[in-house]
Amino acid sequence: MAKLCLCLTAKTIQRNLEILNKYRKHTDLAELRVDCLDPDERLYIRRFPELAGLPVILTIRRDVDGGHFTGGEGARVKLLANGLAFANTDSRYNYAYVDIEDDFDVPSLEEAARTFGTKIIRSCHSLNGFTDSIPKKMKSMQRSGDEIVKIAVAVKSTNDVLQVLKASKKITAHNKILICMGHYGIYSRILAERFGSYLSYASALSESEVPGAPGQMDISELAELYRVQKITSKTKVYGIMGYPLKASVSPWFFNTVFNLENTDAVYVPFPTDSVNDLMEIAEGLDVKGFSITVPYKETIIPKLIKCSDMVQSIGACNTISRMEDGWHGDNTDCGGFSESLLEFINRKNLKYLKATIIGAGGVARSVASEIHRMGGKALILNRTVYKAKNIATKYNFKWGGLDNQGIELMLKFNDIIIQTSSVGMEGYEASDPLDLYSFTGDEVVMDLIYVPPVTPFLKRAMSAGCRTLNGYNMVIRQACMQYAHFTGTEIPQKLLSQINTTGANTWNKIRSA
Ligand code: ATR
Repeated sequence: MAKLCLCLTAKTIQRNLEILNKYRKHTDLAELRVDCLDPDERLYIRRFPELAGLPVILTIRRDVDGGHFTGGEGARVKLLANGLAFANTDSRYNYAYVDIEDDFDVPSLEEAARTFGTKIIRSCHSLNGFTDSIPKKMKSMQRSGDEIVKIAVAVKSTNDVLQVLKASKKITAHNKILICMGHYGIYSRILAERFGSYLSYASALSESEVPGAPGQMDISELAELYRVQKITSKTKVYGIMGYPLKASVSPWFFNTVFNLENTDAVYVPFPTDSVNDLMEIAEGLDVKGFSITVPYKETIIPKLIKCSDMVQSIGACNTISRMEDGWHGDNTDCGGFSESLLEFINRKNLKYLKATIIGAGGVARSVASEIHRMGGKALILNRTVYKAKNIATKYNFKWGGLDNQGIELMLKFNDIIIQTSSVGMEGYEASDPLDLYSFTGDEVVMDLIYVPPVTPFLKRAMSAGCRTLNGYNMVIRQACMQYAHFTGTEIPQKLLSQINTTGANTWNKIRSA
């Protein structure tokens, strides 16, 4: 199990103590980032371990290593010495650890620290990727057997994360801290145990404090939602792959379910730029199943050993599970979409209804197939017309572009309008993909996006008096079906009601934190 370290980045000692007290229940140890303190406050760091009442790491991170300390090395050594001075024979009054860099060379200070039980974390921050062999580097960094060696790499791609993971498997001899900094590496912070890391650093982001390093997550999120301190080699790991993957309800949903039913499992976001590299990482981390989202619902298919008839006929896959013979693919977007829409319009099918589908990506394939299955007719409009045509011809539907001609065609296909493109989604451009169309107010309008809950497109439809629905209900329904694929069992209804009553609100609170 990895420990959770609260990285304290406030400007004053007092504020750091307030934060520590608030999150004490999640904190195994704290790191006082002296470089983030106001210069006057740095004079009072000596008493911090006593005031904190739990093990504290003393760190003065230089700007060249991604910190805020801009003074000279002499001044830094003096500050470190102040922090470690007047050591108490009761080690609880001393810093438990001091973080000093690989190139730090003041043996007397290290000797003094050791004498009074302060352990050394020997660190190396690689802000421009990593070219050396990490295992070799770690070996060369360690100066004595009781040191913890730390390497933090700013990862710029999934391949960088893969290299770090491979390295972590080779280093078993000693205590180490391995971190992939940045968005591509966020799962290394949740799955610190799988990366063989002694601890994972977290910040008090919900207190508006700055993260101690790029990609650091909020301590409550790591402790309560992801239950990082309980992850062991036996914990079942699931996740979601996509890019940019900035706003997905799935980690909240699955982890809440696992939490409520007390299952030893975790569901982790895996933002990625390479499906191939991530599949290799999945082997290394023993991931049992993935939800697949934008833009990989089609590209994932060649990686599967087996896929359901639905995946084969539609050409889009949003759920993969690892079986003995390899990865199997399914599609739960279809079921989630049709259940959600039929409930909204209170019908059992779409006979005699004509719909327009905006977009022709992975999820549009599922939507088109379901509209056809439910007896409806449709027009598909897409920025790239040939993609709309490819899907439409399969179901004898019409197609067009997002232009005046397309809008003209829409006038006969406007009982229901379903927006499936990524336009309006958080992380993408916040515009309206159908701005050439004027709503009559009689259309049923569904936007599959749920972050933000109301896109510019949906807002305009609402103002025109249309009945509108966003994608939240659909995503929850498809996640329930995914859960069944992953675990072989259904989510108990009672548990689902429990989540639904508080669900959207709790999730939005987490999201805005
Ligand atoms: P998903 O799996 O969610 O469907 P996708 O396969 O990446 O995601 O598809 C995204 C859809 O959003 C596509 O229809 C895309 O249009 P193109 O096929 O022309 O790329 C559409 N889309 C993305 N950005 C767009 C934009 N700025 N304007 C219009 N459509 C856009």
